[in-house]
Amino acid sequence: MSKTLVAYFSRTGEQYGVGDVLEGNTAIIAKMIAKKTGADIFEIMVAEDNYPNKYPLLIEYAKKEKESNVRPEIIGTVEGEYDTIFVGYPNWWGDMPMPVYKFLESYDFSNKTVYYFCTHEGSGGVHKTDFAVYGHTAQNDREEAEQKVVEWLKRIGF
Ligand SMILES: Cc1cc2nc3c(=O)[nH]c(=O)nc-3n(C[C@H](O)[C@H](O)[C@H](O)COP(=O)(O)O)c2cc1C
Repeated sequence: MSKTLVAYFSRTGEQYGVGDVLEGNTAIIAKMIAKKTGADIFEIMVAEDNYPNKYPLLIEYAKKEKESNVRPEIIGTVEGEYDTIFVGYPNWWGDMPMPVYKFLESYDFSNKTVYYFCTHEGSGGVHKTDFAVYGHTAQNDREEAEQKVVEWLKRIGF
């Protein structure tokens, strides 16, 4: 039996274009993917969460984090063997958030299939992203977001 994992990083609080949210944009997409593929879910959460809840402060904080290229500690580890891993993140300053780098550097992904997906507000995907969707679509038009997710999953054989 092939096993699939969806690992994602996402923020609640104030996000660009959607206001204060209880569930992050990337989290919404991550859960759609998990539901459609029967995957387990791992949320990439930092041990010391100092990310501001206010968007203007968050972008400044994230900018500094990117400039110093830090690798924040992550809570917990992925247990078990997975053949396919979906890695989801919000586009932050045209890049992946630093905790996602930390996550990726913490495991050996050889012989595994890794798909990257992201939410964004105009820049699209970075890294070698396989699927990108607007954050406000994920948040406010779930039907459309889900349709895009399903189309993508079909294209890659799910
Ligand atoms: C720190 C920060 C930097 C961002 N930089 C970009 C960017 O460079 N390009 C872009 O299209 N969107 C950018 N955004 C918008 C987010 O990618 C978008 O709101 C995303 O859906 C947030 O996902 P989340 O709710 O899962 O955290 C940025 C948002 C934040 C908070």
